[in-house]
Amino acid sequence: MWHGRFTQDPSARLRAYGESVSFDRRLALHDVAGSKAHAAALRKAGLLTARELAAIKRGLDAVAREVRAGKFNWREELEDVHMNIEAALTKKIGAAGAKLHTARSRNDQVATDLRLWMRDETALLLAAVRSLQKSLVGLAARAGEAIMPGYTHLQRAQPVLAAHHLLAYVEMLERDAGRLADAAQRANVLPLGSGALAGSTIALDRAFMARQLGFDGVSQNSMDAVSDRDFACEFLSACAIAGMHLSRLCEDTVLWASSEFGFLCLSDAHTTGSSLMPQKKNPDIAELARGKTGRLYGNLVSLLTTLKGLPLSYNRDLQEDKEPVFDSADTLGASLEILAEMFGAAQWDKKRMAAAADDALLVATDWADYLVRRGLPFREAHKVVGRLVGLSVKRGVTLRELTPGDLHSASKLFRADALRVLEARRSLQSRTAEGAPSPRRVASRLAWWRKHLSRRAS
Ligand code: ARG
Repeated sequence: MWHGRFTQDPSARLRAYGESVSFDRRLALHDVAGSKAHAAALRKAGLLTARELAAIKRGLDAVAREVRAGKFNWREELEDVHMNIEAALTKKIGAAGAKLHTARSRNDQVATDLRLWMRDETALLLAAVRSLQKSLVGLAARAGEAIMPGYTHLQRAQPVLAAHHLLAYVEMLERDAGRLADAAQRANVLPLGSGALAGSTIALDRAFMARQLGFDGVSQNSMDAVSDRDFACEFLSACAIAGMHLSRLCEDTVLWASSEFGFLCLSDAHTTGSSLMPQKKNPDIAELARGKTGRLYGNLVSLLTTLKGLPLSYNRDLQEDKEPVFDSADTLGASLEILAEMFGAAQWDKKRMAAAADDALLVATDWADYLVRRGLPFREAHKVVGRLVGLSVKRGVTLRELTPGDLHSASKLFRADALRVLEARRSLQSRTAEGAPSPRRVASRLAWWRKHLSRRAS
């Protein structure tokens, strides 16, 4: 492609080291779309005849068909997806193909392709986020009003509805969807027309190309446009944060599926056995998804590090942007899909949850609130209940087994109704503020999610 100036062929090692077609062929259909818009702009500027434009379009469509059918002959010696497609086009249609690269560089071309690819990929990821949300909402619904201990510091803290715990992840995923959609929207700007770095003496109608490709506008600085990969960083960042959420969900799942907790039963189809220990049923999917979060973080750090210290404008370093972006899209997409399937088939063990939630210590705070309602300042109430907890621990009994005399000597404000306060369900019923886990609040949020998620196209 640059034969004019060179007297030697590239070394075999340079070819192998520098080629990107082995992975950037993934951009092929977007490269074809970008080339069609570019060709249409060349025609508009009078640089192609109507006949030449038609030939280019026909040739590009044929290339796209071969790519889709897996029949395109990818050649490593042509380095990347752009040169492969241009060479194939020229071979098919002759002279008109050689005009396509007028007023264009691979630098603005690859920036365009990657933005187009990311836009499509984001739509797929958003659909996968939705399907995991739906699966979690289904599992939350199957929990009904089952109560489980809520934890802080992984110590039993206060009772919650199992549904409330799961819906926390549905909220997180909604923010993930928002971040992905945001990144895609900011990326939706056309770089074509920026040339290698300084535009071209042949000015094309960039707004026209942007409209053809569904971009919201055109980039405003050619040097920025060919070297900007902020959109890829934002995409990777949104994937990394989503991965962090999945990892936390999976950690809860691993705990819940353990004999120690035993709250959640994963289906045989979504667990594995051990070749050594016949009794084992392992939550490998949750562990793998938790583990793959490392790659999602790594991909973000990888690209940020590649970009750090790059002088303007295009540098070949930028070729290193694609593999992390592809890998994060694949990794996150696969995790979302398999987790949706796994939670869809999971069942609660409500007996185990109820037994764990029966711990009266979980509602100790409610005793403090009881005393507050009778006029004691919260700090003092906290101390009184703390002493009673200490007493029960010393005696080896539960809070419910303390005597009316014990209560009375801890505080004169305790009445006979104090013991009824120690009931988890009652406690939950009074947690009625917006966002709190009273069964009524949780049911209404669940209904809201059902409606919200069915409204989406995906
Ligand atoms: N494969 C290259 C990349 O991904 C395309 C742009 C090459 N431009 C260049 N001047 N060598 O960045």
